[in-house]
Amino acid sequence: MKLSTRYCGLQLKTPLIASASPLTAELASAQRLEAAGVGAIILPSLFEEAVRADVRNLDQYVDRIKRYKDTLGIPVISSLNGITEGGWLEQAARLEQSGCDALELNIYYVAASAKESSDHIERRYIDLVYKLRAHIGIPVSVKLTYQFSSIAHLVKRLEETGIDGVVLFNRFYLPDIDLETLTINPTLHLSHSTEALMRIRWIAILRDQVNLSLAATGGFHTVDDILKALLVGADAVQLCSVLFQQGVDEVERLLAGMQEWMARKGYDSVHAMKGKMSYGNLKDPSGFERSNYLSVLEHNS
Ligand SMILES: Cc1cc2nc3c(=O)[nH]c(=O)nc-3n(C[C@H](O)[C@H](O)[C@H](O)COP(=O)(O)O)c2cc1C
Repeated sequence: MKLSTRYCGLQLKTPLIASASPLTAELASAQRLEAAGVGAIILPSLFEEAVRADVRNLDQYVDRIKRYKDTLGIPVISSLNGITEGGWLEQAARLEQSGCDALELNIYYVAASAKESSDHIERRYIDLVYKLRAHIGIPVSVKLTYQFSSIAHLVKRLEETGIDGVVLFNRFYLPDIDLETLTINPTLHLSHSTEALMRIRWIAILRDQVNLSLAATGGFHTVDDILKALLVGADAVQLCSVLFQQGVDEVERLLAGMQEWMARKGYDSVHAMKGKMSYGNLKDPSGFERSNYLSVLEHNS
């Protein structure tokens, strides 16, 4: 059974990637993730603000990449979190020099001003990604939120910048209100499988409209979640919450479950099943669109 996949120009031995989180922050847990079977790991994001506050954060990050590269056999992807132009493009160049295999750009921006149009915001994203792409030579992916009015259009424009992949979709801390103290507290709950369906739908829709790599993130907990993502055309599936909840060894169980299903369905490789249920490959893809809503309503009335 060939589980290998190509993602952002990298050859991964399995399509499961440990996404950016504290779980990949220590070499020992990165080694355990590799032993359990992940195809790549993504370091926790280096935040633009953190480097601005203390440049030693960048040095530490670079040292960590070097240590990981010396020890691990799987690709090591660094992650940058930034939105403004400036010094951090230089930081990206330092990360590239440190030997990481690819860079994931995690753009976190809350469009809170009523004066800023969606077109303006998207143009800022695109300009930034163009500049990053021109600045470094290693593969670049962009991790997006779903809060855009036309995701397909934005991803197409991102592809035109020359990047190698997009990661759909990040989850964020949400502000909650403490009713006793009347203060705002950031909260981050781990995800649930139900969140995977939105990602699966968008990957299905995008698969035949773009050529860049697509990775799923957000709600991928079970063998079924992962298989569905691959069937609609994901090149890789990133895992985070499930590893916090079930432990790193869950990767082994997920890979075994995937192989069991693939054997039962007659697929001898991930490549053979990838995209079989993308929007373009379905006789009736309307299930991914609005008619889905109508039939759900009919079934439940
Ligand atoms: C504690 C925690 C820390 C995270 N840190 C980062 C980060 O530094 N950079 C990033 O791009 N995503 C970060 N994420 C998001 C995850 O990489 C992942 O995309 C998200 O949790 C959705 O996947 P999941 O449903 O498998 O958890 C973090 C998530 C958690 C739970």
